[in-house]
Amino acid sequence: MIRNDIKQLAAYHVPEANGLIKLDAMENPYPLPDAIRDEWVDHIRDLNINRYPDAEMGELRHVIADREGLQADQVLLGNGSDEIIQMALMVVDQGPCAIPKPTFTMYETISRWLKRPVASVPLEKGFSLNADAFLRVCAREKAAIAFLACPNNPTGNMWPRSSIQQIADNFRGLLVIDEAYHPFANDSYVDFPGANVVVLRTYSKLGMAGLRVGYALGHPKVIAEINKVRLPYNMNSLGQASIHFFLEHFHIFEEQAKKICQERNRLADALVRVDGVEAYPSQANFILLRVPDANAIFNALKQRGILIKNMHAAGGLLENCLRVTIGMPEENNRFVVALKEIIGETDK
Ligand SMILES: Cc1ncc(COP(=O)(O)O)c(C=O)c1O
Repeated sequence: MIRNDIKQLAAYHVPEANGLIKLDAMENPYPLPDAIRDEWVDHIRDLNINRYPDAEMGELRHVIADREGLQADQVLLGNGSDEIIQMALMVVDQGPCAIPKPTFTMYETISRWLKRPVASVPLEKGFSLNADAFLRVCAREKAAIAFLACPNNPTGNMWPRSSIQQIADNFRGLLVIDEAYHPFANDSYVDFPGANVVVLRTYSKLGMAGLRVGYALGHPKVIAEINKVRLPYNMNSLGQASIHFFLEHFHIFEEQAKKICQERNRLADALVRVDGVEAYPSQANFILLRVPDANAIFNALKQRGILIKNMHAAGGLLENCLRVTIGMPEENNRFVVALKEIIGETDK
């Protein structure tokens, strides 16, 4: 009854974080300020949840498009950008999905669900992307779609504009530029023209992860095609109304993102001074570290009440790597103190 390849899979696992300092999921650590929380509750109080939500979300798409200098027919909303990744993988021709390795795991996972082969291209020194090699693999494998996370997860780096431009200009399939970490980065590739490029964004990393809202920006023609596989009413009324409200108070989230970037730079400076730890430059709200023994350090941090993400099991370039999300200053301090203690201990 169930496909054999599905039986081999594991369901997406989210580790229990009760009582732990949670630095594992790229969430914004700052809660919504009380004043705005009350206004938000007032805003959603009168929602008619006995009715289905606005199916086309025209007004919300219009507001988002305006902010980007685009038209509403260039915006598609998803239940998190994960949902749009799935939609994009559903609409393209047969042929592999091309991705760099390592990158965000859902590109490969959803491809597998949809029986789409995956062609991965290893990143090079410093997690750099070789655009020539990437294009060669795309051409050889006849890739139908490619994903480039800019900045990349879990490495945190941003590939240069010239590399992304080269791939956008020469790739024959649909190029999805995933800007999930755009609020923390120095550049954006949303200005890349062409009907073969779609840019993904999300409100998740900016402080609204619980709402599950992401969006795609692209040429009206490609957005219209992807929209055909969107489930009816994919975004619920609460999410729609809340995003609408929060877009009017966006400076709150932008200020929080600025604080997160300052903390990221402070944490990076502190990590450089920890013996045995290599911290990679990041333009996202997390930092990737290479440590002497990732499994031991991950477990010891957890025992001290700090949950981060252990990337070691992925192997390859992620051997002995840990990914830590930027928390509040006090949480980051506790992380550094614990890491120093543990490394001191394991060195003995
Ligand atoms: C690169 C990248 N894209 C997309 C997502 C998914 O975000 P969302 O919460 O919008 O589904 C993530 C989440 O970690 C991510 O790292």
